[in-house]
Amino acid sequence: MAARPAGVAPADNGSPHLAARDTAGELPDHAIRVGPAARLRGRPNLPGDKSISHRALLLALLAEGESRIEAAGDGEDVRSTAAIVAALGARVERVAGAAGRSDYRVVSPGGDALTEPDGILDCGNSGTTTRLVAGLLAGRPMFAILDGDASLRRRPMGRVVEPLRSMGATFGGRRGATLLPLSLTGRAHLSPIGYETPVPSAQVKSAILLAALAADGETSVTEAVATRDHTERMLRARGVGVAEAADDQGRHMVRLTGPATVAAIAETVPADPSAAAFWLVAASIHPDAELSLEGVSTNPTRRAIIDILRRMGADIEEHDRPGPRGPAVEPLADLIVRSSRLRAVDLSPTDVAAAIDEIPILALAATAAAGTTRIRGVGELRHKESDRVAGIAAGLTALGARVRIEGDDIEIEGGRRLRGAVTETYDDHRLAMTFAIAGLIAEGETIVRRPGSAAVSYPGFFQQLEGVRA
Ligand code: S3P
Repeated sequence: MAARPAGVAPADNGSPHLAARDTAGELPDHAIRVGPAARLRGRPNLPGDKSISHRALLLALLAEGESRIEAAGDGEDVRSTAAIVAALGARVERVAGAAGRSDYRVVSPGGDALTEPDGILDCGNSGTTTRLVAGLLAGRPMFAILDGDASLRRRPMGRVVEPLRSMGATFGGRRGATLLPLSLTGRAHLSPIGYETPVPSAQVKSAILLAALAADGETSVTEAVATRDHTERMLRARGVGVAEAADDQGRHMVRLTGPATVAAIAETVPADPSAAAFWLVAASIHPDAELSLEGVSTNPTRRAIIDILRRMGADIEEHDRPGPRGPAVEPLADLIVRSSRLRAVDLSPTDVAAAIDEIPILALAATAAAGTTRIRGVGELRHKESDRVAGIAAGLTALGARVRIEGDDIEIEGGRRLRGAVTETYDDHRLAMTFAIAGLIAEGETIVRRPGSAAVSYPGFFQQLEGVRA
């Protein structure tokens, strides 16, 4: 049986707030009950940023020698990446760090001496692992097979296969190599490309940049909206020149000249703003709340959740953390969030791209805001760990919210108190955590079905949900 977090008990044990339901043959995390909280107080321990943790491990694989990664996220996704780094020839030591975090020591022979893996590389539930590993291996002369769970096998991979093929890598797989499992044969000298991403995607940009390290000449990636820039910052911190500029049409362009070598460094991972988002919304929509969140990355390409909530009237204090400065380093802040009266907001496709992982929890915020919130251009959300457009609409509607989907736009009429209901997560971590937060403010009991996916990005989330009740 999967480990049950402390404070989570079978549904019939009388636990007043939170319980897991055990059914024969099913994991004990089959369902969780969440009751309303009288008050919210505390300092949830946030996981290390997931995007940065994946990249730190992959760059450690490319760097010859010893890399150290402190306070990495300890979710299942990051562990999938760590296992692949080990399968490709690095020695990976994981030491449990602070709650929900782990420290890694990675000793690698370097990008030119990787081991051809003798088994399938299992990316689990992680799209970032799949796409970034595809980019990294495109420029390494070896054969590999990438696979993942049922959700990952439904997600579009053509978006990385197409540019990586044009650089010289060979892919095979179902439907023209657009779906996992994928076979990949890399090549030591790739051709540089100038690529314009059809949808804003940091994963696609990063896959191309990792491949560009093994290309002969300058590769550029142009995006209509600048996506998270961790790969760029982290490559610079490891001695690789990455230029960024606006092109003649104001689009964002990143350039890297290969071949380039990645140096081994020691790095500390900041707290994940996408995990902080759940508490920022919980406290904002709860009538008696004050939560503190420490050491959160306020990277301009990740902080949209803070700025959008402020546009809605949220009370978020931000105290910058002094620390090392420089373009490669993530800016950090301690955040204090308190109860507030939110108002509806209009979110543009650019807002959506900037807060791509936070739309489910922002949709919950919208149910508590006065007026009608419009979120435009959410098409990409249909291609995440689940179809999040359908999942948000179904879950919030079950909880009594008025939600309308029109094409790629979502409209949410706010201001009605939610009432507890059964919500479906479709094994999607961000939906599981969104509906659990809804349970803190809804009237009556909320049931979150199959919540175990929360461990993909936020191990310990449900204990912390109990811990903030005051
Ligand atoms: C990520 C990029 C985003 C995001 C994902 C993490 C990354 O995906 O949704 O959770 O680490 O680069 P897309 O590139 O598909 O938008």
